Amino acid sequence: MEIRLAEEKDAKAVADIIKRHSQDDYMGYVTFDHRYIIEKMKKNNFYFVAESKDVQSTSNASVIGCIRASIVDLDLAEIRTMCVDEPHRRKGVASRLLEEALELLKEKKMRKVVARSKADAKEAMAFFEKNGFVKEGFFKEHYRKGIDIVQFGKFI
Ligand SMILES: CC(C)(COP(=O)(O)OP(=O)(O)OC[C@H]1O[C@@H](n2cnc3c(N)ncnc32)[C@H](O)[C@@H]1OP(=O)(O)O)[C@@H](O)C(=O)NCCC(=O)NCCS
Repeated sequence: MEIRLAEEKDAKAVADIIKRHSQDDYMGYVTFDHRYIIEKMKKNNFYFVAESKDVQSTSNASVIGCIRASIVDLDLAEIRTMCVDEPHRRKGVASRLLEEALELLKEKKMRKVVARSKADAKEAMAFFEKNGFVKEGFFKEHYRKGIDIVQFGKFI
């Protein structure tokens, strides 16, 4: 398994894995595809992918995990669209993706990194807490009606 910064040629694989993990209530972008990813890549967004060399075991998907590091202000960044395909979970893939993303954000002199997850996403919340993020905000029915959001933050 290799972790690397995604390039434009990876945009389709990145869009595909995000779509695999987006629940219907969250796929608000009717035209969400590789073009959305490419536009984001041009504007302070960095996607890292985890690529499996063992393509057969992953239904032809070589990208089995991804994370987006997004610079949102002077020295504030956000971790978004972090996901790992189910057969590859609990093996440290997301931890390695996060590590690479934080390394890049440190190089870019970011001061703080935030991450948001659904308030009922137990695995994501446990993940951020294990990685030194602290719960710092609660957003009632924020992006979508009926879905509460928790924000985590980490100073880097
Ligand atoms: C959250 C997610 C990315 C974690 O990926 P992963 O590769 O399985 O994570 P790791 O193996 O690096 O896990 C690191 C730690 O996170 C915590 N964790 C991860 N999954 C967990 C689970 N299902 N239950 C409890 N804790 C969990 C554990 O502390 C784990 O350490 P441990 O395995 O030594 O106990 C994955 O579960 C996922 O894709 N979920 C759906 C998408 C999502 O919710 N994304 C977050 C919003 S941005």
